[in-house]
Amino acid sequence: MTTHTADLLNNRYSARGFRPDPVPQDLLDKIFAQSLKAASNCNTQPWHVMVVSGDMRDTVSNAMLAEVMSGKGPSPEFEWNVKYQDEHKDRQWGSAMALYGAMDIAREDKPARMQAMGRNWQFFGAPHGAFFTMEKYLGIMGAVDVGIYAQTLSLLLEENGIQSCMQGALGQFPGPVKKLLNIPDSRGILFGMSFGYADDHPANKCRTDRVELSEAVQFFS
Ligand SMILES: Cc1cc2nc3c(=O)[nH]c(=O)nc-3n(C[C@H](O)[C@H](O)[C@H](O)COP(=O)(O)O)c2cc1C
Repeated sequence: MTTHTADLLNNRYSARGFRPDPVPQDLLDKIFAQSLKAASNCNTQPWHVMVVSGDMRDTVSNAMLAEVMSGKGPSPEFEWNVKYQDEHKDRQWGSAMALYGAMDIAREDKPARMQAMGRNWQFFGAPHGAFFTMEKYLGIMGAVDVGIYAQTLSLLLEENGIQSCMQGALGQFPGPVKKLLNIPDSRGILFGMSFGYADDHPANKCRTDRVELSEAVQFFS
């Protein structure tokens, strides 16, 4: 079990293949209680997290897949269709290549890429999925806080030997999820996360790189 933040950050990666065995509920209670220590603007704590496991996990997954297969297209409740430019586009491309490379999927093999994409809505086989929701009126103020919350949660999970993957994909087909989980209209699904114990799925071999310090951080004095 890792306890130093730098080690947690080094060890964490987005896991996209999981064993089916669930995390014990008392451990989930402990981790999710600790996650509430995350900082937020004016301590507003705008996150409202819906965790699905067991039958509800399967029901929600099937409902999202049905929506995907219906061909209706995504209907996210927040602005998610930014078209990346310049270095952001390059990094987006790099992360996709790293993932498909790990899975041995060729760039031109569209059916295989679609199938890999579809695993998002099966929680990548994880026994648990989380939906990060917040009041829609909060906009970017809430989104910043919920992002900080999710990172806090992912590190706590890692500390307890549990892997995770944050997923914008889990906010792309909110209709049936909101019905099943009784999420009111005023609240939207910003994004989600699959988590559990990683297995030896090829996708879990994927590792992404980071830019040099000088490219991301400037020190002034
Ligand atoms: C807000 C957010 C949304 C993401 N959405 C997805 C997603 O829908 N599907 C997916 O497979 N990975 C998703 N990821 C994982 C990123 O691709 C991943 O964090 C990035 O490539 C860096 O790799 P690493 O997490 O393994 O370090 C998301 C990550 C974040 C932070």
